[in-house]
Amino acid sequence: MEFAGKVALVTGGSRGIGLEISRRLAQGGADLIIGYKKDLENAEKAKAEFEALGRRVQLVQADLRKPAGVDALFEEVAAGLDQIDILVLNAAFGTMGEVLRMGRASWRASYDTNVLSPMLTAKGALPWLKRKGGVITATSTLGAHTAYPTYVAIGSSKAAMETLVKYMAFEWAKYGIRANSVAAGPVETRAIDWFRDGDAVRIFTAKKGLAGRMGLPSDIADVAVWLCSQQSHWIWGQSIVAEGGILCGVDYDDWMEENVDRNEFTAEGGA
Ligand SMILES: NC(=O)c1ccc[n+]([C@@H]2O[C@H](COP(=O)([O-])OP(=O)(O)OC[C@H]3O[C@@H](n4cnc5c(N)ncnc54)[C@H](OP(=O)(O)O)[C@@H]3O)[C@@H](O)[C@H]2O)c1
Repeated sequence: MEFAGKVALVTGGSRGIGLEISRRLAQGGADLIIGYKKDLENAEKAKAEFEALGRRVQLVQADLRKPAGVDALFEEVAAGLDQIDILVLNAAFGTMGEVLRMGRASWRASYDTNVLSPMLTAKGALPWLKRKGGVITATSTLGAHTAYPTYVAIGSSKAAMETLVKYMAFEWAKYGIRANSVAAGPVETRAIDWFRDGDAVRIFTAKKGLAGRMGLPSDIADVAVWLCSQQSHWIWGQSIVAEGGILCGVDYDDWMEENVDRNEFTAEGGA
């Protein structure tokens, strides 16, 4: 088993994509430290499932948006499993809205949780990761690479996080630490209902994506766990986009039919 003898800390590892990443790591032999914010019931379900596989599991409740929450997390790690070989930076929060409509508090909420917190969490885990050389994998979003409606605070904060991960790869390679991100397209979790019209996101993803369906947590966990594994040993500081093919190609026939009257088009001046 690839991860036997290793301990993985997965923030937001109790549900959604983080739960599926935790599950794959546990199936691969890793013991787990699962961070969650408030949903104890889901966290305990995950603990029971992974303990049934013979894994050691430590649950840590902490609000990682606050620096004090990050400190509390590592105090508990030190008193608990006291080992981290794999760090998955997955917990996130986002405020939805357009640039002109969001106030300072909305920006702060997204940037505190998606940029400052991953940086503090990675710094906090560093003493353990350095012991034998470790791996950092962050969960990012396609919205860091292209624009979605009302997604600017999340998309831009995750773009900053991806760059942070690149710099961690650059600065911490000397400790034997490899860091990368996976940028996910839309995935069926509770987070989809943050969108004003979650069903539009589901339909768009299934119709535009070459895969022909909505993303599942397992689609992203496959990539994230691969990035945690030796199989990806030659990849450093990158963001791997995993989006079911929604960015691949342009179906201009459909788009033209819905948007353009050919009779009004002139080559010089556009429509
Ligand atoms: N779903 C998508 O379409 C999608 C697309 C692109 C990227 N992603 C990224 O994938 C990651 C996981 O998303 P998801 O959809 O699986 O999310 P989710 O189902 O909403 O789960 C979020 C997890 O993060 C934890 N969490 C949230 N805020 C936290 C905080 N302040 N402190 C500590 N833990 C916190 C939650 O704990 P509680 O359960 O206790 O609240 C939960 O375990 C995120 O980084 C997200 O940006 C998701």
